[in-house]
Amino acid sequence: MAVSKLCFSLVFSFIYVTVASAGSGSYNVQSFGAKPDGKTDSTKAFVGAWAAACASTAPATIYVPAGRFLVGSLSFGGQTCKSNAISFQIDGTLVAPSDYNNVVGKSGNWIRFEKVTGVSISGGTLDGQGAALWACKNSAKNCPQGATTLAFYNSNNVVISGLSSVNSQMFHILIDGCHNAKLQGVKISAPGNSPNTDGIHLQSSSAVTILNSHIGTGDDCISIGPGNSNLWIENIACGPGHGISIGSLGWEMEEAGVQNVTVKTATFTGTQNGLRIKTWARPSNGFVRNVVYQHAVMSGVQNPIIIDQNYCPDNKNCPQQSSGVKISGVTYEDVHGTSATEVAVKFECSKTEPCSKITLDHVNLTFKDEKAEASCANAGGTTSGLVLPLIGCF
Ligand SMILES: *[C@@H]1O[C@H](CO)[C@@H](O)[C@H](O)[C@H]1NC(C)=O
Ligand SMILES: *[C@@H]1O[C@H](CO)[C@@H](O)[C@H](O)[C@H]1NC(C)=O
Repeated sequence: MAVSKLCFSLVFSFIYVTVASAGSGSYNVQSFGAKPDGKTDSTKAFVGAWAAACASTAPATIYVPAGRFLVGSLSFGGQTCKSNAISFQIDGTLVAPSDYNNVVGKSGNWIRFEKVTGVSISGGTLDGQGAALWACKNSAKNCPQGATTLAFYNSNNVVISGLSSVNSQMFHILIDGCHNAKLQGVKISAPGNSPNTDGIHLQSSSAVTILNSHIGTGDDCISIGPGNSNLWIENIACGPGHGISIGSLGWEMEEAGVQNVTVKTATFTGTQNGLRIKTWARPSNGFVRNVVYQHAVMSGVQNPIIIDQNYCPDNKNCPQQSSGVKISGVTYEDVHGTSATEVAVKFECSKTEPCSKITLDHVNLTFKDEKAEASCANAGGTTSGLVLPLIGCF
């Protein structure tokens, strides 16, 4: 019985695998000339594999075997694709050229997807080799801006799972103008002093889910720019980094708002911020509404809870020194742990557009095992349950 069952299942798997590979094309980048030696430029092989997958009428898999594949800037367009299910299965590492001037594509990205539908990326590592550019930025002016490692523009139904991104030059992952993206089990790492290396930046996108991810980097772990709605972010470990930030918002006068954001179960370790909302002190019709932060643990975080509407570095470009971004409906529920500074909660809201409907429920933040403080301006809201530090201005 056991033997025949095993037999059956082997035969079945064999048939399944055969049918699967015949029916849904699999394209190994090595058969397009890619070399896993970390030295041979494999850019053309990846472009070739994409062209073949894109032309397939059936679901297609682009397979990247183990090894290091050196690739320059890659741009994958989906507009003419027949397939709306292309999956990258990556066992190896894609390595950016060590000369940072050779990484940036026309759009400032290393690996760029534009107008694709149903693309998924599973496994693998992207190594942006950003160290030389950070050194330039940290010691000199006139350095190039650098490349975002992986960017999706104007795309739908994107899945990124089990992918590692290390040492990006600029942002690690950018989701811009997309609808329905799911990122899970993503690992991002760059040193805490690497400039502009945001982990995941979201812009003008909706229905984006980020789950079970570990992000340590030199800028925001996750940053949420203008025009995002319906985001679900859960089970994130952040640190080092600048926290999970909504913003910077309100640079433009006409700007799309941010709404319906849930951040649930997050730990922040040694980060500059925990849960941050940041807006330029400039006129704008932008807004932030309906944000829920739930179950966050802070460990030695400089600003565990912060709304900063006075952002204006060097006091330049902020004619009225007051933000037009209207922030309302922000809930902090079950946030506890330690602040690295005395002021653990900071609500510095706009004097012309005060924050409203801020809710804190079961918040307990301490500073060196002592009482922490809250600073608060132009904010209205309520507290329930134990809330420490006390919020003076509600
Ligand atoms: C935000 O969520 C509310 C309630 O769940 C929903 O009615 C509204 O349509 C959402 N807003 C957007 C922009 O999707
Ligand atoms: C707040 O947190 C501190 C440190 O974790 C703990 O010692 C204290 O008992 C908590 N306060 C309350 C009232 O739960």
